[in-house]
Amino acid sequence: MTERRALPAAETDPTIAALPAGTRALLAELWTQRAASELAAGQAFAAVERDLAALDADPAVLALAARAVADEPEHAALCMLLAEAYHGAPLEAPAPRPFQLPVHDGADDVLRRHLHVVGLCCINESIAVAFVAACLADAAGPLLAGVHREHLADEIGHARVGWAHLASARVDADVRAALLPWLPRLLSANLAVWSDRIGILPEAGVRGHALPPARELRAATIAAAREIIVPGFAHVGLPTAASSAAVDRAAR
Ligand SMILES: [Fe+2]
Ligand SMILES: [Fe+2]
Repeated sequence: MTERRALPAAETDPTIAALPAGTRALLAELWTQRAASELAAGQAFAAVERDLAALDADPAVLALAARAVADEPEHAALCMLLAEAYHGAPLEAPAPRPFQLPVHDGADDVLRRHLHVVGLCCINESIAVAFVAACLADAAGPLLAGVHREHLADEIGHARVGWAHLASARVDADVRAALLPWLPRLLSANLAVWSDRIGILPEAGVRGHALPPARELRAATIAAAREIIVPGFAHVGLPTAASSAAVDRAAR
């Protein structure tokens, strides 16, 4: 977990107080749902941490993963801080959203573990970086901006778990060759999940409240795939033609 800066108190964020009651209720509900997703992300990272341990991953990668496991419940608490700020009163924390890492039919146990790391960290968390950055760019109030800055800094660390693992000696030429045919479908599946997540948000967004219009958020996820993930694969020596084609299909 990164060291937290002090966040401004909810009641000092005038942009929240200025919103109509209906919009405040909607944002309180969205942030409560987001808290449940962050708790599930914590469970997903705990499973990936176990995968990395089983792969005898580099100690530096394991340390980054342990930090991510601790960060996600902290993100859930930050989401509830926002939910309560919009609601104007305390709220009950939600149960974690149910989650299961993909089974990846046809992969053996070792490959499945590597695929979990690539899917959750290199792909999902790199897209999360772009998503949170787009939200931060639209956060007008001090509390919203503070929460999103914390979240963005952590998401970069979470993506690094995967990139550091791919660049480590534990991922040799044989592992890279085994991973390669799976990359386009991992990218497609993750982009589809993000598109669904964005689909439950208000299409027009709520300007100033870290909720840009849905088309801008979708564009941010595609840009992350094109400008972070595909070049990242190339950087660690993975050919990218099929991955680029998968991103092009998702962008249509
Ligand atoms: Fe998170
Ligand atoms: Fe994360």
